[in-house]
Amino acid sequence: MIGIGIETSCDETSIAIVENGSTILSLKLFSQIKIHSPYKGVVPEIASRSHLEKINHLLEEAFFESNIPKEKVDYISVTDSPGLIGSLMIGAQLARCLSFVLKKPLVCIDHLEAHLNAVKLENKFITFPYIGVLLSGGNSSIFIVNDYQDMQIVGDTIDDALGEAFDKVANLLDLQYPGGPEIEKMAKNYIPSVSEKPIFPKLLKELPNEKIRFSYSGLKTSVMYYIKKTQVTETNIQKICYHFQNSAFDLVEKNIIKTVNLTGIKKIVCAGGVLANETLRKRLQELAIKMNLNLFFPESKILCTDNGAMVASLGYEIFKMGKINSIDFKISPRRKESNIL
Ligand code: KG4
Repeated sequence: MIGIGIETSCDETSIAIVENGSTILSLKLFSQIKIHSPYKGVVPEIASRSHLEKINHLLEEAFFESNIPKEKVDYISVTDSPGLIGSLMIGAQLARCLSFVLKKPLVCIDHLEAHLNAVKLENKFITFPYIGVLLSGGNSSIFIVNDYQDMQIVGDTIDDALGEAFDKVANLLDLQYPGGPEIEKMAKNYIPSVSEKPIFPKLLKELPNEKIRFSYSGLKTSVMYYIKKTQVTETNIQKICYHFQNSAFDLVEKNIIKTVNLTGIKKIVCAGGVLANETLRKRLQELAIKMNLNLFFPESKILCTDNGAMVASLGYEIFKMGKINSIDFKISPRRKESNIL
């Protein structure tokens, strides 16, 4: 079965053609990072205009690369929520248009559910239930995933998302946008002394055991005060990045441990742009060994970020269940309960 996946929820324009939900025949992605970089964050209006400029070329390239004739497509899947409305609209219009012209069914996809499905594109087949951990520019959330469209949230952020905190701290340090890769690079070059203690306070240390929460605004403020009272040298920036990154990931680990202890589920699937971070990957792998967890995350970094292949992959599962959407489906900035007919 051949599916098209269309992803335009934020600042990546992506089209993929995927066979049987797991084999990528073509994955085209245009990242708008350079366009938003001067503004140190995503500008919604610029994002939607850029999607509009790129999307048709990406579609043509994907068909060309996959060598699949358009009439061979079985379904068209598209992210309909959550995301920036102007951005979602561009993908949605393309999907409606393809469905109308090719007379093929439409499958609407939840962006967060799609992220957690990305590992399937690397031939990792995971049975339900599992713990889903989503760490990106817009989300720091933990779910119990009971089925493809059945995710129960157990922990969320009360302020910044993890990627957002990386971006904001990078901004405080005058590093480039997006901050995640810059902070990671700086942190890698710092060699702490053997007895060096964390320089930023423990996060959410007062929270009772059964509460699973992310919060990064306090850590961000600590970094801001630290910068104010110390000299900003290259080594000092590296030191700040190292300690910020470690403290931020301490909270990820702490929340995963809590969720495992509360639910007894030992299968963890992680996804989202922050999973590109090598230190985080290593820490999660070490935690998995220590706690005897079955851990999955996309090896390929393109599958960590927003991409059309994860949309087509989840689209396959939903289409197989016989769930399709009408051409007048609605997009939404927030997660929908369900938009299936
Ligand atoms: O999932 P994603 O590509 O898209 C959105 O959520 O929009 O995530 C982007 C986020 C950005 O905040 C970026 O700074 C962060 O992921 N990120 C990283 C790294 N690479 C990207 N954070 C930490 N370390 C990285 N290597």
